[in-house]
Amino acid sequence: MSMKKRVGILISGRGSNMVSLIEAARAPEYPAEIAVVISNRPSAGGIALAQQAGIATVVIDHKDFATRMAFEAKLHQALLDAKVDLICNAGFMRMLTGGFVDRWKNRQLNIHPSLLPSFPGLDTHERALRDGVRIHGCTVHFVRLEMDTGPIIAQAAVAVLAGDTPESLAQRVLAAEHKLYPHALSLVASGAVTVEDEEVTRHHPDDPPPPLFSPALRR
Ligand code: GRF
Repeated sequence: MSMKKRVGILISGRGSNMVSLIEAARAPEYPAEIAVVISNRPSAGGIALAQQAGIATVVIDHKDFATRMAFEAKLHQALLDAKVDLICNAGFMRMLTGGFVDRWKNRQLNIHPSLLPSFPGLDTHERALRDGVRIHGCTVHFVRLEMDTGPIIAQAAVAVLAGDTPESLAQRVLAAEHKLYPHALSLVASGAVTVEDEEVTRHHPDDPPPPLFSPALRR
């Protein structure tokens, strides 16, 4: 029986991070498998890429639903149907309500193109250049209700170079994203990290096993 965690990837667009996860998950020793790719946009380029890779795809167009909750109920059911353990948001451009976020708490990851908590939201590369930072990068974190917040699993730094444009910087950050996301997912799927008190704790092989009870209960 496979012990791999089953992953649902949520996309809205081109899906290059999705492809990096699909490719990583092909390795026999990788601790996760991609069970389904779900797009909220019928026009997302990533859908064809997932199909070419032989992954099941589902389109749930948010415009077909009167409320966010109705859309999310359908999304939740599609994830349950695919027997998903973990969700990876990969360029998924839809805000989620507390009900959905809570149901998947510590089981939903997101990738963001900045070193959070700097530059949450959109246009991160333009803003990084405008503010003159010398180090930029990307973050994979667990999803919480507030956009681009939540316990940080892993980050990759990218140097800002003289003459960088938002496009050139975006390109180098994206290359880092494609390495970071598979790494972060493997940390979560293998159980190498867990969340305690809203912080991600890394369990090294030599560490004692994680406590059976939360710190609050042991006190
Ligand atoms: C990436 O930069 C990701 O960090 C952000 O949206 C972009 C999606 O790109 N959340 P892709 O669809 O994975 O190519």
